[in-house]
Amino acid sequence: MTTTDPDTGFRALDATPMGYGSMRRKEDARFVRGKGRYLDDIVLPGMLHAAILRSPHAHARIVSIDTSAAEAHPRVRAVITGETLAGLGLAWMPTLSHDVQSVLATDKVRFQGQEVAFVVAEDRYSARDALALVDVEYDPLPAVIDAQHALDADAPVIRDDQEGRTDNHIFDWEAGDAAATDDVFARADVVSSCDMLYPRSHPAPMETCGSIASMDPVSGKLTVYTTTQAPHAHRTVYALVAGLPEHKIQIISPDIGGGFGNKVGIYPGYVCAVVGSIVTGAPVKWTEDRSENLMSTSFARDYHMRGEIAATHDGKLLGVRVTVLADHGAFNGTAQPSKMPAGLFHVFSGSYDLAAAHCAVTGVYTNKAPGGVAYACSFRITEAVYLIERLVDVLAHDQGWDPAELRRTNLLRSEQFPYTTALGWEYDSGDYPRTLATALDMAGYDELRAEQKQVRSAYERGESPMLMGIGLSFFTEAVGAGPRRTMDILGLGMADGAELRIHPTGKAVLRLSCMTQGQGHQTTFAQIVAEELGISPDDIEVVQGDTDQTPFGLGTYGSRSTPVSGAATAMVARKVRDRARIVAAAMLEVSPDDLEWEKGAFRVAGDPAAAATMNEIAMAAHSDLELPDDVEGHLDATCVYNPPNLTYPCGAYVCVVDVDTATGQVKVRRFVAVDDCGVRINPMVVEGQVHGGLADGIGMALMEVMAFDTDGNHLGASFMDYLLPTAMECPSWELGETVTPSPHHPIGAKGVGESATVGSPPAVTNAVLDAIRVRHADMPLTPAAVWRAVRGTPLRT
Ligand code: CDP
Repeated sequence: MTTTDPDTGFRALDATPMGYGSMRRKEDARFVRGKGRYLDDIVLPGMLHAAILRSPHAHARIVSIDTSAAEAHPRVRAVITGETLAGLGLAWMPTLSHDVQSVLATDKVRFQGQEVAFVVAEDRYSARDALALVDVEYDPLPAVIDAQHALDADAPVIRDDQEGRTDNHIFDWEAGDAAATDDVFARADVVSSCDMLYPRSHPAPMETCGSIASMDPVSGKLTVYTTTQAPHAHRTVYALVAGLPEHKIQIISPDIGGGFGNKVGIYPGYVCAVVGSIVTGAPVKWTEDRSENLMSTSFARDYHMRGEIAATHDGKLLGVRVTVLADHGAFNGTAQPSKMPAGLFHVFSGSYDLAAAHCAVTGVYTNKAPGGVAYACSFRITEAVYLIERLVDVLAHDQGWDPAELRRTNLLRSEQFPYTTALGWEYDSGDYPRTLATALDMAGYDELRAEQKQVRSAYERGESPMLMGIGLSFFTEAVGAGPRRTMDILGLGMADGAELRIHPTGKAVLRLSCMTQGQGHQTTFAQIVAEELGISPDDIEVVQGDTDQTPFGLGTYGSRSTPVSGAATAMVARKVRDRARIVAAAMLEVSPDDLEWEKGAFRVAGDPAAAATMNEIAMAAHSDLELPDDVEGHLDATCVYNPPNLTYPCGAYVCVVDVDTATGQVKVRRFVAVDDCGVRINPMVVEGQVHGGLADGIGMALMEVMAFDTDGNHLGASFMDYLLPTAMECPSWELGETVTPSPHHPIGAKGVGESATVGSPPAVTNAVLDAIRVRHADMPLTPAAVWRAVRGTPLRT
């Protein structure tokens, strides 16, 4: 039951979902009818189409580019090269990590698939055809593909565009107390270590990236329709890169077919589309195909990690130490708060009470696409959770301990919250032991272990090739970046705005800086306003994605919408309610202090019949009602929410797999996921988010990898080669929940969009390795990898 806080009159932070609970998603009315409006549905009058010529080499000097044949194509309107852009000062653009990236190559190409020329034509086919008419002469160079050789003395220097550069080193970064961690390791009884690779993977949204740029030569206004998760940040970056006045730039994100971090950055094609529109005087549309998306727009992960974990004889975890070699590709374009080159990786002490921890991260250039995006995770937390959850299992394996028991005895206890980790994060709330216990109960952990024994005996007797594995993970995420003081991207502080306007008839419009990509914001944010003001969610329109119509903010990624924009929504609704109280007082001719709030209406204390509903208040606020001198009419408010801390969702996952040792094939038989994301706004939406993330985890653990040959040829440029999980590989998910509200979030909610993507890869990996009793093998655990691991000849990706 929902209760009301007697002091504030607002909904108390308890475990119940918000009003309207699992209401159906408002946006689905258009999606299920095929009425979504995606980039490809937008057709502007006179619109031209563009295509990008990409490098076939991973590393090569450009000797010459001859565009004359392409320009002579009857339907081609412009061919743009790096030289054209250099004339405009646009051949290079800043990345999100304070590096620069080539928009169109001028001197060298540095990864296979890099942008070399941009052709604008009257139709898409002609643009593509004309690419074949651009004649580029390359002088191939040796490529650096394996990050572990990027710093070799004889490694070719990739970024010789940077003056004085003699190697491929980007940065060294540390977090934690190295000396204290060394001390802990010196006095530990047992230490386990493990080298692991979190392989390069791709967010692979169903809709690829693209944009339509339209520069109005008369007004000087640039309108860009684009698949961006961060429209406002894009507008500012366009203004900075192109020197265009920011107030004359309008970014419009239409419906987006999945983002997962792939649609945060600015890609060369977007900049070229703007230049194409300026050059031709017509709107220019550029959309990637699938291979272009997989080859050139942001990869994720690619962390080579060496982790060590220290413990006592009786299984008390003491500390973790890790060194990371981060492969950042040819341009350092990783997405994370500027002051943190490894993002939030230093949350890797996980869910355990550790005395000390330390990490040292080195970033290097290689001849691969730039990126390092926060693919469905809050800036490298996926890597951090994989590291700690694998280390715990490696330790359990080395010592013959039960992995569930090892976790149970070391998890943070409820009374330790708020808890400051050895790396400085302040975890806000959680009941970790209950979350784990719920998952183990749901899974029937003891029975599963008994069954596993029987399966193994049949295997050992040679009666069956099958083995069974049980894998656990317990994760803590840190989501909802800022606060702006410690977190910014390119100097833009991570805070978000909200505007709420109640029309005279009581219908509302909420305008937000975040941007949905399928997460259901039009429903859940309306539910927050409904809860705060007592207006039906059906009467609340949520506007996002158009910079001319919405307040500034940093956008949607890293599960930050609910923690930041959700909080902004509650706060702006509360401001409106404060205004409504004054209007109601004037209507009822009492003092505002004499009014009591009852969802949807103010009543006079002691005279409940004297009341004004929100509808009546809304009309009165726009009428000739006499209001106090310092109170403006109308019923609206704005708010900028600067989060005081991140929110820390957590979860306990149990995965059960069957492994056919004859073929190496893994079948995920069961998956139990108990998530705690604080107060759930819409439990159905939350479950949908978790389902998607769990499928991601199966993909990551068993099949997804961006592979390259030694020359840097990309081996995963289609969905035939870069495998994604489908319903066939997914079991029927078994979901549970615990609810510990975030104490600093106005409605007690924590983010959840990426919890399962973060938490599930180690659970699946641990399950497979548990089945075959192998200490470690890198993801993806493909049939070939498992087959070889069973036979003691593991594959390295
Ligand atoms: O930033 P993003 O929207 O990707 O992630 P999120 O903030 O975790 O929210 C994902 C979806 O789940 C949104 O529609 C949220 O409103 C909803 N959600 C919820 O209903 N309850 C929560 N405690 C957290 C998220």
